[in-house]
Amino acid sequence: MAPGSGTHSYALNSWVQSLAIQRLHPILRDAINHFKLPRDGNIRVADFGCSSGANTLTFANIISIGFFANGASEIQYFFNDLSTNDFNTLFQQMPPLNVRFGGNDNSFDVNSLPLKSGFGRSTKKAERKIDTRIYYAAAVPGSFYERLFPSSSLHLVLSTNSLHWIPHLPEVVQNKASIAYNKGQTFINAQNPKALEACGEVFQENFQKFLVHRAIELAPGGLLVLLFRGRWTNLPTLEIVDEPPHRCMDFGMEAWEASWDDLIFEGLINAELRDSFNIPIYHASMEDVRMAIDKTNVFVIQKLELLKQAISTEMSKEVQNSLFENPNLYGDLMSNAMRATFGELVEVHIGLELANIFFQRLKENFVIRVPKTNDAFNKVSGEFLIVLVSK
Ligand SMILES: C[S@@+](CC[C@H](N)C(=O)[O-])C[C@H]1O[C@@H](n2cnc3c(N)ncnc32)[C@H](O)[C@@H]1O
Repeated sequence: MAPGSGTHSYALNSWVQSLAIQRLHPILRDAINHFKLPRDGNIRVADFGCSSGANTLTFANIISIGFFANGASEIQYFFNDLSTNDFNTLFQQMPPLNVRFGGNDNSFDVNSLPLKSGFGRSTKKAERKIDTRIYYAAAVPGSFYERLFPSSSLHLVLSTNSLHWIPHLPEVVQNKASIAYNKGQTFINAQNPKALEACGEVFQENFQKFLVHRAIELAPGGLLVLLFRGRWTNLPTLEIVDEPPHRCMDFGMEAWEASWDDLIFEGLINAELRDSFNIPIYHASMEDVRMAIDKTNVFVIQKLELLKQAISTEMSKEVQNSLFENPNLYGDLMSNAMRATFGELVEVHIGLELANIFFQRLKENFVIRVPKTNDAFNKVSGEFLIVLVSK
């Protein structure tokens, strides 16, 4: 994710992810209200794939307030991401610690949670900003596909918008001689079912590892709450019953792939340079996720849902209207959001100068695709919302 807090940073451009996270608030509130506290009242929470944006800190506040309202004594919050993550920006954004919140201070009303709401269906109450930190914070760099914590040391594990990132691309997807070579596109998409299948195997192996490691790290009865991108169809193609096959998983990827086509058409890059670039993201199906949970057999399912994309269900009507009526603003917001997430990968592959042109084309491709209704956002991809309890 783009570091820092500048124009293209993840910190400033993670509103799409923030819409998705808002869905978790009521679920977490409920889960925390019913959580059986350990004897000493001390709670340890870990957020896997935290990045460096405000989403993560808002989330930490919400969860901590919930646990205090439920009688927790102290909260230790761990922020995990790859060691290349911009932990500095994350920790610099944190307000100072206020230990007064420990013990029996239950004066905070869990229903007044400070939701970050720029684009969502906000209420005035929800916009209140918290300028104090009520949890002890620590960074834990490393891949979440590995062990990261001692046994039975955590009570709540979270991961939002991260588990669709697979740790590596399969060799066949990058091998020109293979039928799984991901020619003609940069996301793992409908064009090539074999590439999708190969990435599905990497996802399966690693998602199982994630589950097994977290089951060991969680105390008995601990909770695992996950939110990540998935797809509606179990087929290795992106056909949906009664609909023609889609080239792309979603609206954003369509504009994205069209922008690569533009660069090739303009003679700025050749097709081979595009074909050798792949984004290591896999949209799992319900079958993939169920298989991993069943095979590992370390968690009980409390909730397992695939939902429509939050961008189509959680965006406020005012924001939708102002975006759809203002293609330029829409183009800027969408292209900046994608740059914040994937920009670094593009810059490494084609260099900064071409990357700037690419993201200008991306903006233009969003401008000409501005949707008429928010339902246009729903295609093949959706969002998994999963709550598991450790056995
Ligand atoms: C889109 S960001 C999500 C950030 C935040 N959780 C949110 O919802 O806004 C995805 C994050 O997952 C991290 N990530 C991807 N693979 C990872 C891995 N194997 N281990 C730890 N973090 C990983 C990325 O570095 C990135 O910061």
